[in-house]
Amino acid sequence: MPRRVAVLTSGGDAPGMNAAIRTVVRAAIHYNMEPWAIYRGYHGLIRGEMEPFTSRSVSGIIQRGGTILKSARSDKFMTPEGRDEAVAMLKKHDIEALIVIGGDGSFKGALELDKLGINVVGIPATIDNDIACTDYSIGFDTAVNTVLDAVNKIRDTASSHDRVYVVEVMGRHSGHIALYSGLASGADVIIIPEVPCSVKHVCDRIKHANQQGKTYNIVIVAEGAKPEGVEGNFEGPAMAVGKYIKEHTGFETRVTILGHIQRGGTPTMRDRLLASRLAYHAVELVYQGKSGRMVGEVDHVVQSWDLHYALAQEKDINLEYYHLSNILSSL
Ligand code: F6P
Repeated sequence: MPRRVAVLTSGGDAPGMNAAIRTVVRAAIHYNMEPWAIYRGYHGLIRGEMEPFTSRSVSGIIQRGGTILKSARSDKFMTPEGRDEAVAMLKKHDIEALIVIGGDGSFKGALELDKLGINVVGIPATIDNDIACTDYSIGFDTAVNTVLDAVNKIRDTASSHDRVYVVEVMGRHSGHIALYSGLASGADVIIIPEVPCSVKHVCDRIKHANQQGKTYNIVIVAEGAKPEGVEGNFEGPAMAVGKYIKEHTGFETRVTILGHIQRGGTPTMRDRLLASRLAYHAVELVYQGKSGRMVGEVDHVVQSWDLHYALAQEKDINLEYYHLSNILSSL
């Protein structure tokens, strides 16, 4: 059993990270290990921004979004010299094990530390839900609920003005947020990177819906989607899609880009439970001297996976949800 275990958060923050930090600290104490906190991810690790935590250090944070440990990018950690400095800093503080809360980029960094002899365990936390070997990552449920709240409001104004609304949601390379929020909000069209889709097809669906008596439409598009038929090197697709719809259907169209509000807010019950369960298992693995593992929840069962294996897997999109949404919105 390692005497000291440190925890850091890395990559984009996600609601529920604080609930995971709280559990890591308290579970470590439960297993008679000393919890240490590292601030600003790998950047702070290299700089020695760390301190011992007590149970009281994590009081009153279970309901808070963001991460009390902060998050940062580190170019230096991408270099072998930077990683050597990180390991030296951990050794200087007698820290033998590290728990990394974050997404796939953070886990790649964790694997490098594993190779250098530090025991590492990863806890998946990203609103994008693009990590394999877990049904959900921490933060996804809260983010989707934030989108639903926004789309409910957009629906009010869309119906009042008989307009098409194109709503862009996060998901740099993945459509999980768009898919879940699209199905749960009753969107007419969902555009995601994983399923080819042309803007002409989007317009056809809108026109068809109009013929069915629909007076307004909601189109949800993932920021990483690249629908066929819209040109250009744009940051996200929503503006181009909105322009195309307006020009090719004649319907009054508005675009809303939800942006970083999706990353904030108080975590939902699901994210708090997921964070607590995953983080507890991560500490158990550390206590058992395991390394190079990622914890995940599959079919409600918490388990762990070889981190290397998990990173090599593609996270599948739920096509059943996609088809269901298509059926329900075409009537
Ligand atoms: O956390 C993941 C994510 O939300 C992506 O969907 C998005 O593209 C990205 O983070 C934006 O992150 P930032 O603006 O902080 O670089």
